[in-house]
Amino acid sequence: MGYDTEVLVIGGGPAGYTAAIRASQLGVDVTLAEKDAYGGTCLNTGCIPSKALISAANMAHEAGTAAQMGIDANPIVDYSTLSNWKSNIVSQFTRSVEKLCKANNISLIDGEVQFESDHTATVTRTEGDESNGTSISFQYAIIATGSKPISIPGFNYEDEPIWNSSHALTASSSPDELVVVGAGYIGMELATMFSKIGTDVTVIEALDDALPAYGSDVTHVVKKRLKELGVDLQFGERAASWNESTDTGQVELVTESVDEKKTYLSDRILVAIGREPISETVAPEKIGITRDDRGFIETDGSLRTSRDHIFAIGDVAGEPMLAHKANHEAIRAARSIAPDESSVSACAVPSVIFTDPEIATVGYTQEEAEADGYDTRIGEIPLRSNGRALSMAETDGFVRIITSQNGSIIGGTIVGPEASELISEIALAVQLEAKAEQVAATIHPHPTLAEAIKEAAENVRDKAIHSLNR
Ligand code: NAI
Repeated sequence: MGYDTEVLVIGGGPAGYTAAIRASQLGVDVTLAEKDAYGGTCLNTGCIPSKALISAANMAHEAGTAAQMGIDANPIVDYSTLSNWKSNIVSQFTRSVEKLCKANNISLIDGEVQFESDHTATVTRTEGDESNGTSISFQYAIIATGSKPISIPGFNYEDEPIWNSSHALTASSSPDELVVVGAGYIGMELATMFSKIGTDVTVIEALDDALPAYGSDVTHVVKKRLKELGVDLQFGERAASWNESTDTGQVELVTESVDEKKTYLSDRILVAIGREPISETVAPEKIGITRDDRGFIETDGSLRTSRDHIFAIGDVAGEPMLAHKANHEAIRAARSIAPDESSVSACAVPSVIFTDPEIATVGYTQEEAEADGYDTRIGEIPLRSNGRALSMAETDGFVRIITSQNGSIIGGTIVGPEASELISEIALAVQLEAKAEQVAATIHPHPTLAEAIKEAAENVRDKAIHSLNR
């Protein structure tokens, strides 16, 4: 073929390793370069460790608040053991990704890649490797370099008291007092987790509400639970500066709102104000790959960059920065290089926030659908009418289904326990363009949370049985 490799995949996160494995399964010769750890942010300092810690915190909290069920427990969380347990899960998973790549005959390079010319790149190997600065030629390349936390000017992540989400998820001890800056995805998840294991948490958010992408009908359920946990939520305040407090040995955060300045003392300040793409490291401009003003690599509908033989997938290619979106794009990019028979159509991307209760959405909200010209029908069921939710003492939340005028399901929102699992049924309905009456006619086992989806589908036609129809 004349090249060192047919496909050079840059970045070994959920986008990169999935693209590499699928391309290899389709008979292509693949090289995967990773400069840090296989599995990327998701496996090492994102989804997996956060969900491990969240599961453990939920267990401790549930055990400690089950008096009404006749369970009397006072769990003590040994954070160092918890952190080790979480780290073991992470390393098991990252090792298995590396093994999977090898078993799929993918050549692995531990190092950082920069484009040199149309079909060559330089590899800066991980420290200690003597073959530094070698060149690799490729026919196609897939950029999957991910994203990193944004910082606030003056808040340097090198300073010990200032955390980003990676620090929060790799620390071996938990702070007694924590200030979280940003009530977005990461801020809300980690505020919930730390407060459940006994940390005194304050959340500072510049806007007037948490989770700006969601309506107040969704956020009020989660805010109510956070307040019950004792989390102090402060809206309309922007983190401005910080300093070490000589009196207490703590750190002092200074916030600014429209009319005042306030200070908050804590042991750590977790900054969670968003993430930005890591795109400059591959030297995209050198070979004419264009980026937008936020640094995302621009792609067309088939994930090709401005250079036809180079693709970009995952966080570096734009919002939403979600592992399952990365995964889907990886399969599509691999198929563009080596077409196969299976069909992979573009589809609605579900979104999940692992707060308490969980929030999960897919497809349209009612407002979005109406803005796009749909005449919508809504089916909605409060979880207090669901037997399984009652038996779990988890009745805060609802299931909502949005249909077009002809009854096709075009979106859904679930707020409640296991929303992250349940949303896949609505995602499937959206993907298959199923009608609400078809979901309503599907037998759902009893007693389960999933029955609330069937009931919400019934409610679209005012035919719910266990709840009054709206
Ligand atoms: P985000 O964009 O969700 O939230 C950031 C928040 O910080 C916003 O509400 C913003 O108003 C606020 N903010 C910005 N500057 C501020 C300041 N100086 N003072 C106070 N508040 C300020 O960003 P986040 O939570 O960091 O998440 C980044 C990305 O990570 C998400 O967009 C998502 O793609 C991904 N993610 C997804 C998860 C999931 O789906 N379960 C979980 C974690 C991350």
